[in-house]
Amino acid sequence: MSVVRVPVPAKINLYLGVGPRRGDGYHELTTVYHAIGLYDEITVRRGGTTAITMDGEGEGDVPLDGRNLAVRAVNALAARTGADPRVLLHLRKRIPVAGGLAGGSADAAAALVACDALWRTGLSRPELARIAARIGSDVPFLLYGGTAVGTGRGELVEPVTGGDQVWHWVVAAADGGLSTPAVYAELDRLRDEGLARPPQVIGAELDRLYAALRQDDPVVLGAALHNDLGAAALSLRPSLRDTLDEGLVAGAVAGMVSGSGPSCVFLAADADASERIAERLASSGTCRLTRTATGPVPGASVRVAATVYGGER
Ligand code: C5P
Repeated sequence: MSVVRVPVPAKINLYLGVGPRRGDGYHELTTVYHAIGLYDEITVRRGGTTAITMDGEGEGDVPLDGRNLAVRAVNALAARTGADPRVLLHLRKRIPVAGGLAGGSADAAAALVACDALWRTGLSRPELARIAARIGSDVPFLLYGGTAVGTGRGELVEPVTGGDQVWHWVVAAADGGLSTPAVYAELDRLRDEGLARPPQVIGAELDRLYAALRQDDPVVLGAALHNDLGAAALSLRPSLRDTLDEGLVAGAVAGMVSGSGPSCVFLAADADASERIAERLASSGTCRLTRTATGPVPGASVRVAATVYGGER
């Protein structure tokens, strides 16, 4: 294969329970990841050097050097397999670069899958997931997609078998980002002051979510969504409250901060409702842009050859 193209979805967290801070600075997590149909796409081919170009969301803001998570993923896979790391990567970014949707982590997952195919290194998903975990806590999930529970610091991923329901989501991306470490630190501070929910025994809440995923009722699923980081993101960025209120007034069944924010995500009753909510949010001035998407969708995977090679070979 001379060119490999890999689309990769964004993620949201249907549930994000943050435990105590560990000795290594990370927090013990129990999270339910959910991949939604907003995609970045990475293209890789062999080159005389390792270089990355991009178009789309975040052009000019996303670093195009060794800090880029996709470049780190290429180097990590090359180090593990002995492959020649010189590849030309191109990123088509469509996932809003705003935080909370794991766009950078998605690109890293896509780069692992793409280079594994380009180099014919043939690693299994669990082997790729071990490399992915070193790049970031969310990266392993994006190799699998669907709906999955993440434990440890989020990197230990097990699929959640739901029904075959399609859920309709609206994403509202904020202007500018929020630093993930700062959001976790804010949660610790709020907890120390008794201002945020302390770590919980969450078995019953998770069971409620899993049961909701097997029913076909967005209201039931909406009531089971939860994000411990929401309070911290709202504390650092109080204007997110306006975004959340606006989405609910527009008819969303539920709304919450996505991951560590500042993106917000809303559950809609159906496709029409999601379009209406997205339009109203977009014109409300409470967010930078909105997108609709359904979930769950599969994770990073090589596009079939017929599409990959259209005129490029
Ligand atoms: O793993 P990742 O690089 O995405 O994490 C970014 C930062 O988020 C970490 O450096 C840490 O401050 C915080 N984090 C955490 N606990 C987790 C995941 C992330 O405290 N489980």
